[in-house]
Amino acid sequence: MTAVLVAYAGKTGGTREIAEVIAEVLRDHGLSVRVLDAAEVTAVQEYAAVVLGSALYFHRWRPEAVRLLERNAEALAGRPVWLFHSGPCGPGAGTARVSLPARVALLAARIDAERTETFGGRLDPAKARGVVARLVASGQRAGDFRDWDRIRAWASDIGRRVRIRVPL
Ligand SMILES: Cc1cc2nc3c(=O)[nH]c(=O)nc-3n(C[C@H](O)[C@H](O)[C@H](O)COP(=O)(O)O)c2cc1C
Repeated sequence: MTAVLVAYAGKTGGTREIAEVIAEVLRDHGLSVRVLDAAEVTAVQEYAAVVLGSALYFHRWRPEAVRLLERNAEALAGRPVWLFHSGPCGPGAGTARVSLPARVALLAARIDAERTETFGGRLDPAKARGVVARLVASGQRAGDFRDWDRIRAWASDIGRRVRIRVPL
């Protein structure tokens, strides 16, 4: 059995890289882990625990992450689920805490997910497509604000909890 699913949703790879680091830490805890784009997840029954993260765009989660929660709500309610989102960039990104968008908050409550973690994001002007994205990615907010130590510490805590809660 694959013990843990780490699913991610984003547009320019920043959230996928966070998911990959989380998976690496979980593997260090002796867990078997599968990393998937949220759009590729058809079912979660085979996993004992799930970590799901989305990039924030205009205060929303990516639709494929929301769909994963909607379509698998019943199965997710029966397993430990950890949620994170990545987005804040610029000064203050490291300490920013973003609330879940309303629809996602309802789904999180329905599946009794653990408290959501906020991680800084990455805004790369070279990757921004479209006028708005280029505008958002310019100036002080441009750069990589993902705090790998915090991400690793969060993942390590999950690793310990999964080892306690899930018989493998
Ligand atoms: C057009 C646009 C809108 C964004 N809106 C938000 C937002 O509402 N809240 C936030 O915290 N970050 C926002 N961001 C920052 C992204 O969430 C951040 O760049 C993230 O790391 C992107 O992840 P990805 O590479 O996985 O797509 C926005 C970025 C762009 C380009």
